[in-house]
Amino acid sequence: MRAVITGATKGIGWEITKGLVQRGYDVAICARNSLLLQKRKESLLSINPNVAIIAEAVDVSNKQAVINFAQKIKTEWNELNVLINNAGVFLPGQIHEEEDGILEKQIETNLYSAYHITRGLLPIMLPLKNGLIINMCSIASIMAYPNGGSYSISKFALLGFSKVLREELKPQGIKVTSVLPGATWSDSWAGVDLPYERLIETLDIAKVVLSLLDLSDSAVVEEILVRPQLGDL
Ligand SMILES: NC(=O)c1ccc[n+]([C@@H]2O[C@H](COP(=O)([O-])OP(=O)(O)OC[C@H]3O[C@@H](n4cnc5c(N)ncnc54)[C@H](OP(=O)(O)O)[C@@H]3O)[C@@H](O)[C@H]2O)c1
Repeated sequence: MRAVITGATKGIGWEITKGLVQRGYDVAICARNSLLLQKRKESLLSINPNVAIIAEAVDVSNKQAVINFAQKIKTEWNELNVLINNAGVFLPGQIHEEEDGILEKQIETNLYSAYHITRGLLPIMLPLKNGLIINMCSIASIMAYPNGGSYSISKFALLGFSKVLREELKPQGIKVTSVLPGATWSDSWAGVDLPYERLIETLDIAKVVLSLLDLSDSAVVEEILVRPQLGDL
């Protein structure tokens, strides 16, 4: 079995990637920092030396780079079972005062990346007549909150993309799941003065995502909403 995970070196993506490798999946991973990518590749091989790993430095906000990444995967693999559109950037702000270009940056990273890689990789998923695409949306995909700004716009759009894809791929046997985490410990929250138990652990999101792989072909989880036990921040 084979999986592609974008933004796989840290946070939620890293936790999911480790779980997939533990389950014996070959993985193709990307992120911008190539040094960390190399370290992650070594860690993954120490978890399971029997898997194949493609690790590529890619800035997913760059359309051509995403298309090239998909192309590279297709030259090495002729089949793909799981695609996880996880890479994303959170730049807090308010529409009326955030810097020019912040909307574009987050739309490119959080939305267009998923659109282009999905289009690039579907040709090696469709012939299988099964498979799973997971889009890492957010609580910000369904509600506006202070300082959500353009991030929230991009995540509303990603949820829209995910719903459209679900309808389109229903008859093709490919499942599409939108995951909507609330505040989850990651670099985005580094330095925040809150008790550890106030936020979700990345491992919890990974456990929920990996459980999707255990379902039969006849059932799809369309949306998963995970909140901190004490509610949103
Ligand atoms: N943490 C939360 O509270 C939370 C809540 C809801 C939804 N989410 C969503 O969950 C996803 C993962 O978030 P996270 O909190 O786990 O993030 P994170 O810890 O900051 O990790 C982000 C990952 O994506 C990569 N990445 C970021 N920008 C990229 C780019 N332009 N091109 C390629 N890779 C890129 C990073 O590596 P490099 O920096 O090396 O590129 C890293 O591997 C995101 O889509 C985020 O919006 C997070």
